[in-house]
Amino acid sequence: MYKELIDRLASGEPLTSDEYLGLIGSRDEIRDYAAEKARAVRQKYYGNKIFIRGLIEISNHCKNNCFYCGIRASNSLAQRYRLAPDEIVACADSGYSLGFRTFVLQGGEDAYYTDDVLTDVITRIKSSHPDCAVTLSLGERSRESYAALKAAGADRYLLRHETCSAEHYGRLHPDNMSFENRVRCLKELKELGYQTGAGFMVGSPYQTQRNLADEFVFLRELDPEMVGIGPFIPHKDTPFASFPAGSAELTVFLLSLIRLTLPRVLLPATTALGTADPTGREKGILAGANVLMPNLSPAGVRKKYMLYDNKICTGDEAAACINCLAQRVKKTGCEIVTARGDYNGI
Ligand code: SAM
Ligand code: FES
Repeated sequence: MYKELIDRLASGEPLTSDEYLGLIGSRDEIRDYAAEKARAVRQKYYGNKIFIRGLIEISNHCKNNCFYCGIRASNSLAQRYRLAPDEIVACADSGYSLGFRTFVLQGGEDAYYTDDVLTDVITRIKSSHPDCAVTLSLGERSRESYAALKAAGADRYLLRHETCSAEHYGRLHPDNMSFENRVRCLKELKELGYQTGAGFMVGSPYQTQRNLADEFVFLRELDPEMVGIGPFIPHKDTPFASFPAGSAELTVFLLSLIRLTLPRVLLPATTALGTADPTGREKGILAGANVLMPNLSPAGVRKKYMLYDNKICTGDEAAACINCLAQRVKKTGCEIVTARGDYNGI
């Protein structure tokens, strides 16, 4: 019966939240079949190519206080840093020499990065490397700001919605943040022509299996070009310090369901998945993921961008990271490519 549901999903049929709930509850018996079908779908649209994105963690200053996040404003133990425009551009330049053709500028919501500052950085990266894509992941901004950054050359924007339930969102964030504003941002990003990435944490505090089942209905409706999911991992200096981590095994299964639900989606095997399970990223690729995001941040700041405890890859040089990932990817029968890796949505 569950095989039949996977077959229906693989043939493009929308499933209901109840059907997804059944799949999630029965994943022990269906995960291998789901992964096999998900790999076939990825193969159809992207072959065995795994795209790499150079992640530049530009700042760990943040005005927000998400309860789960190690760089939240109220964590007075976080050692704060921000990269100057020249440092960001230098990171992209060195990434380019290593073969990266996408740069992801990610950070907390830091008022230092005005539209003028970011426009300058984006323009400089794009003019030195016109064959590259620039992805931003800088949280909630106004429509005008998103439009200005797009006009400067930004191609993509990652903004996880974290959970598709407004009620659950309210338990993960303080009252000054809202699910409505998050969704407003995502819709505006899509309207402005960004390749847009949504996503959620797996096993975040108070999450139910019904919440997870609803995620698929939400994602099908939003139809993002990218989806980032990873297990929740507690950070010792946050209000959620004593909650258990989310499951890597469940995350891997959900990756297969996402690939089957949104066949052309760009789907990373995330660092959080690699932190929760040492071979999590390989398992993610075998389940249908097709993106990896190695860290290009300067070595001196990596340990400071500590979103959760024991985050991996905070000590290595970028070149070493790529070699390590290339070996890991090879074992899955896939290969890392340096192409820009745009959404194959045509
Ligand atoms: N400020 C931007 C934003 O809010 O989208 C980008 C940075 S934010 C740190 C990037 C992502 O890290 C969040 O969307 C969240 O899903 C993830 N994250 C934060 N804390 C985490 C934790 N404790 N465990 C797993 N993922 C976490
Ligand atoms: Fe702002 Fe985590 S609370 S990046």
